[in-house]
Amino acid sequence: MEERILSTKLTPEDIEYDRNLRPKKLSEFIGQGKIKEHLSVYISAAKNRDETLDHVLLSGPPGLGKTTLAGIIANELGVNIKVTSGPALERAGDLAAILTNLEVGDVLFIDEIHRLSRNVEEVLYPAMEDFELDIIIGKGPSARSLRLEVPRFTLAGATTRTGLITSPLRDRFGVVARLDYYAVDELEDIAERSASILRVEIDSEGAHEIARRSRGTPRVANRLLKRVRDYAEVKCDGNIDKNVAMEALSFFEVDDKGLDRLDQRILMTLIDKFNGKPVGLNTLATAVGEEPDTIEDVYEPYLLQLGFLMRTPRGRIATERAYEHFKIKPKKDASALF
Ligand SMILES: Nc1ncnc2c1ncn2[C@@H]1O[C@H](COP(=O)(O)OP(=O)(O)O)[C@@H](O)[C@H]1O
Ligand SMILES: [Mg+2]
Repeated sequence: MEERILSTKLTPEDIEYDRNLRPKKLSEFIGQGKIKEHLSVYISAAKNRDETLDHVLLSGPPGLGKTTLAGIIANELGVNIKVTSGPALERAGDLAAILTNLEVGDVLFIDEIHRLSRNVEEVLYPAMEDFELDIIIGKGPSARSLRLEVPRFTLAGATTRTGLITSPLRDRFGVVARLDYYAVDELEDIAERSASILRVEIDSEGAHEIARRSRGTPRVANRLLKRVRDYAEVKCDGNIDKNVAMEALSFFEVDDKGLDRLDQRILMTLIDKFNGKPVGLNTLATAVGEEPDTIEDVYEPYLLQLGFLMRTPRGRIATERAYEHFKIKPKKDASALF
């Protein structure tokens, strides 16, 4: 019964919860000041000129607001948004069907765009550039290619890994925005905003306790808020202050750096099980019982940012700081690695 705070596999309940808390306007979107400023200029310019917005690529770790921003862009432009994802677009025809059904100016959101297949990606290029589709009809010698026009649209692509986007694809985006982890005070604002939507009483110290354990991630702040709210309702009068937040978070085994059980297990595996020696991603994943992709996309970025983990050519190692966090003395051969 291990309920994850960080899971990448969102349950329908998670999705519903996320959706309810999602800002709809740029002005409600907290933090990421530079990105907001730029987007607001581009959006106003496009509206004034009655043109479609340039294609936008949003990148950054899960839960930082990529889907939210895509929705906000469409909303601010006053157009429809069609949502799909890289893995869902299996064949070129799937993409063609979506594109030909768009209305002028619509936003097409492709989540996990780094997972588009080659074929589909190649159909996307002329669509992005010239708003045209080249479709091959038939097979063998009788095959012929057909050119179709598609309405001018804005592609919003989201990816957790810019490194996996091919350069011809990346070059076709006019706007590229990299979302960064949020500061604690921004996460405090996010927790307070969400609490008010959920009609939960929270004071600023309570919000602070949640914020500083949220690993820089709004989705995590919202998840922790939910846990703390449940705890506050069951164990106290439902209001969240510093003590309630601290008690609840230790009850749910989130430590004071925001590390959950899997983070702890990853680090302890490196420290203890492999004696501080470098460990390859797949070996590490097997040892902790998680998918390599999840470790790489969800867990590692924050551990790297905390300076608890290092990627070396020979594998992952826990840093001296990680040892300090767990109050463990590095063994001799491990300390030689730092
Ligand atoms: N800047 C923000 N301000 C307020 N809430 C945010 C912000 N960014 C994300 N959120 C919240 O976090 C949750 C996850 O955001 P989402 O856009 O789904 O992240 P991503 O698509 O990057 O994984 C959403 O429910 C949204 O309410
Ligand atoms: Mg998303």
